[in-house]
Formats: sequence, C-alpha cells, structure tokens
Amino acid sequence: MRFVVLDPRSYHACMKRITTVDEIPESGMKFAYNEGPLDEEGILVRMPDGSVRAYKNQCRHLPMRLDDRAPSEFFDAAKGQLTCNSHGAVFRPDDGLCTNGPCKGSHLKVLPVTVEDGVVFVDESATSSFFDV
Ligand code: FES
Repeated sequence: MRFVVLDPRSYHACMKRITTVDEIPESGMKFAYNEGPLDEEGILVRMPDGSVRAYKNQCRHLPMRLDDRAPSEFFDAAKGQLTCNSHGAVFRPDDGLCTNGPCKGSHLKVLPVTVEDGVVFVDESATSSFFDV
C-alpha cells in the first residue's frame, strides 16, 4: 500500500501565497497572479491598521497599468491615497474609489486576498472569471 502525504495547503490549491504582511513595503508592492489563463499583476498595500488591500494593477481611465514604476510608488500612506502614474488619478486605498482624476467615481478592481498567520494569499479561483478591462 502506498500513502501520499498531503501538504495542508493543497486543500487551498487556488490560494496563491503573495508575501507576509510584514514584508509589504510602505509604498506597496506588485505581485503576479492568474486570471484563468492570463498572467496579470496586482498591487498590494498595507493599511495603517495593519489590514491589507489588493487591486488589479490597471487604471480605470485607460487600459494601462496603474503603476509601472520600480520600485513601486503608488501608495502614499501619509496622504492615504493610491495614484496612477499615467495621468495622476487618485484612488482611496480602502475601497479603490477614484476621488480625483479622469476616472473620478469609478473603482479599481478588487482582488480577493486573505491573511492567514501573517501570510497574504490571493484566491485565484475567484480571479479566474475576471476577463474585462
Ligand atoms: S491611465 Fe490612469 S489616470 Fe489615465
């Protein structure tokens, strides 16, 4: 008889590890994830209360990345805002609402992330249906 030892994380095969909460830089970070067969990029920020938010790295003004800087500079925790580096749209980090700029009133696409024991995961089973701009 043959036994297979399962990694406890195998039950969460769609939960992709991104990083730990402590490793998220103050200005936020980018991460790779999949939307079905597509390779996409997300942005991850740590809020002042220690919670995290993640959005697709795509502005709502044009189908362009919100941030293509290296290192990332899209999150200003002191000002409490995310900015698009193309035309300067400003977004609230807590819900992704654009409060100023050409896409005012629209929202960044929220990515489903969870934190378990200080580790941040993105749920790729939920992102697999994101095929819009
Ligand atoms: S592409 Fe983001 S504000 Fe224009």
